[in-house]
Amino acid sequence: MDQELTAFITEKEKLITDELIRKVSDLSIPNRLKESMIYSLEAGGKRIRPLLMIASCEAYGGSHQQVLHTALALEMIHTYSLIHDDLPSMDNDDIRRGKPTNHRKFDEATAILAGDALLTYSFELIATDQQLTEQQKIYIIQRLAEASGPKGMVAGQSLDIEAENKTILLEDLERIHQLKTGELLCFAIEIGAYIGGANNAQLQAIKKFAAYLGLIFQVQDDILDVTGNVEQIGKPVGSDEQNSKSTYPKLLGLEGAIEKKQLYVEKAKKLLQEASASHGLLDQFLIYISNRIS
Ligand code: IPE
Ligand code: IPE
Ligand code: MG
Ligand code: MG
Ligand code: MG
Repeated sequence: MDQELTAFITEKEKLITDELIRKVSDLSIPNRLKESMIYSLEAGGKRIRPLLMIASCEAYGGSHQQVLHTALALEMIHTYSLIHDDLPSMDNDDIRRGKPTNHRKFDEATAILAGDALLTYSFELIATDQQLTEQQKIYIIQRLAEASGPKGMVAGQSLDIEAENKTILLEDLERIHQLKTGELLCFAIEIGAYIGGANNAQLQAIKKFAAYLGLIFQVQDDILDVTGNVEQIGKPVGSDEQNSKSTYPKLLGLEGAIEKKQLYVEKAKKLLQEASASHGLLDQFLIYISNRIS
């Protein structure tokens, strides 16, 4: 990985993790709930969404302090989505981020509630952020609700479950990927750029870049479910096959999935230039995300 990107990730990852834990530790809430929220937040993960938000903000001249709370909120929502995604009634997985899944470590009811708590607390974090104007907060809250809710990630999860045991068209699969994964990644990049000071034309272009990045991210996730190993990906390999999921490798074959991913990387590179953001770290994030092994 590029040295500049490694340095950025190392520094910001620590800040994000420390702040996530601190925010929840400081709450006066039932002990078991707090423990299970912290358990999943602490378990690690790449922190790709908050990192992308900070990188996007900085690409347009902003600073990480401006988006820190929004970035934490986003990581909380993502973590909630993983806790629920692993539940027996959904993907029924036992390992996440290299540790037993939340419902395995605690119990199903606690896992559901930890997810609910992370989801709702994330909106409180944004609403009480001193760094943002009232107008910015309302816009960000609206976009986060859209990206994570029934028009976004939740819609994708719903369609993903519906598509189990079915052969679907590639365009339907892309729609599922875009919703279940793309929307939150788009939110990260769009809001980073918005707070960082991108103009309207730049915002439109960076959103198109983000849409490709989201697809690339999920295509690679599908590929790793086939080719990865549990130590590196921190979750079970073959979960998609076991749940009869529609995935890129399933529809296009492994080679076809890799080719498609490469095509999208080329498109994303061009869009980043259009968004006048190719000088920053987003360019390197694109390469990292498309080649990631964890
Ligand atoms: C996993 O997301 C779920 C998908 C949307 C594909 P990540 O790969 O970002 O998971 P963590 O946060 O690093 O554990
Ligand atoms: C889930 O996609 C994406 C979410 C919204 C959580 P997957 O089911 O493919 O995610 P993993 O592979 O379990 O991380
Ligand atoms: Mg799933
Ligand atoms: Mg899953
Ligand atoms: Mg997956």
